Amino acid sequence: MVTQHLDALMEREFALERAGILLRDGELVAIPTETVYGLAACISNATALKNIFAVKGRPADNPLIVHIADRKDVYHLAHVDKLSELLMDAFWPGALTLVLPKKEVVNDLVTVGLETVAVRMPSLEITREIIQAAGEPLAAPSANISGRPSATTAHHVLDDFAGRIAAVVDAGPCELGIESTVVRVESGRVIVLRPGGVTRANLAAVVGDVLADAGAETSLAHGSPGTHHRHYAPRATVVLCETIEDLRQGAENGVQGLILILAPVEPELDIPWCPLSASTLFAELRRADDFDVDKILVHCTDAVRLDEALMNRLRKAAEPFRESGVDK
Ligand code: TXA
Ligand code: MG
Repeated sequence: MVTQHLDALMEREFALERAGILLRDGELVAIPTETVYGLAACISNATALKNIFAVKGRPADNPLIVHIADRKDVYHLAHVDKLSELLMDAFWPGALTLVLPKKEVVNDLVTVGLETVAVRMPSLEITREIIQAAGEPLAAPSANISGRPSATTAHHVLDDFAGRIAAVVDAGPCELGIESTVVRVESGRVIVLRPGGVTRANLAAVVGDVLADAGAETSLAHGSPGTHHRHYAPRATVVLCETIEDLRQGAENGVQGLILILAPVEPELDIPWCPLSASTLFAELRRADDFDVDKILVHCTDAVRLDEALMNRLRKAAEPFRESGVDK
C-alpha cells in the first residue's frame, strides 16, 4: 500500500474529499488536530477499528477517543451530566476529552468493553471538516506506533506508518503539540485522568472546588487504561535532571555516544542543546532518534515542573521498560 500524502494547505477540497472517501471505504487515515495527529477510522466500521489496534501495536485494553464535528453528536453517543455540560460549554471545541457513560450504539471495539466512552470535539476546523466528510464520528488514537512519541507533523506520521495506512492529511505542525486533557465526572467531582492541553488551572477557573486534587487523581487514574502503558519513549535513554550540576553529572556518567540536553534555557555546558517546551517535546524526541542520540538529559527547571502535562510526558519518556513487559 502506498500511503497518500493529502496536502490540506495546498489542496484543501481535494484532501477533504479523498479523506472522506477513504474513511467511508473503511480505510485508516491519519488526521491533523490542534493537539497531535490522530489515526482515524469510522466508528461504525469494526474491521477498520481492529486495524487501528493492529497497525499501532496498541494494547487491546486501551480504549479510543471518539472525535465529533458537532456538539449535538455527543448526545447520540453518551449520557451527559450537568458538570460535563459545563465543561463542554467552556472547552469545546478544544483539547478536552470527556469520559462519559456510553450508549448502546458505541461499538465495544472503541471502548474495549468499558461502560464509558471518551469524546472530544477538536477545535481545528479541518479536523471537523474531515469528520463531516466521513459522515460519522471518527475513533482516533494518537498517530504513532504504541510507545513512541506522538506525531505532531505529517512527516512523523509517515515515519511510523508509511505503507501501512491509506493516507495522511497534512495540515502542518499541530498548534498545541501535546494531547488533550482527559477528564471524567464522578460523584459530582471532575477527575483528571490524563493532564494535557487544558490545564488544571483552566479547569479550576470553570469548575472550582469540584476539581479533584492531584493526589486523588493518581489513585483514580486507573480509570484511564492508557495511562498505564509505556509512552512517548524515544530510543535514547531519557534522564530527568533538576540542576545544572545534575546535567553535568548525567553527561559524565559512563556515557558513550551522543548526548543531548533538552532545556527551556540554554545551560552553559559544552553539550548540544535543544529548547524544551510542551509544544515541541515530541518533535524533539523524534529528532533525537533521527540523529541516533543515545542519552537525553532533560533540565526540569521550576517552570518545567509546574507544567503538569509536560512533566507527565517527560516522566513517561524516562520510564524504563517494566519487567512485566506488557507495555509497549
Ligand atoms: O489529543 C488527543 O487526545 C489525541 C488526538 C488525536 O485527539 N488523541 C489521543 O489518543 O491522545 P490516545 O489514544 O493516544 O489517548 C487516549 C487516552 C488514553 O489514555 C485512553 O486510555 C483514554 O484516553 N481513554 C479513552 N477512552 C477512555 C475511557 N472510556 N475511559 C477512560 N479513559 C479512556
Ligand atoms: Mg497516544
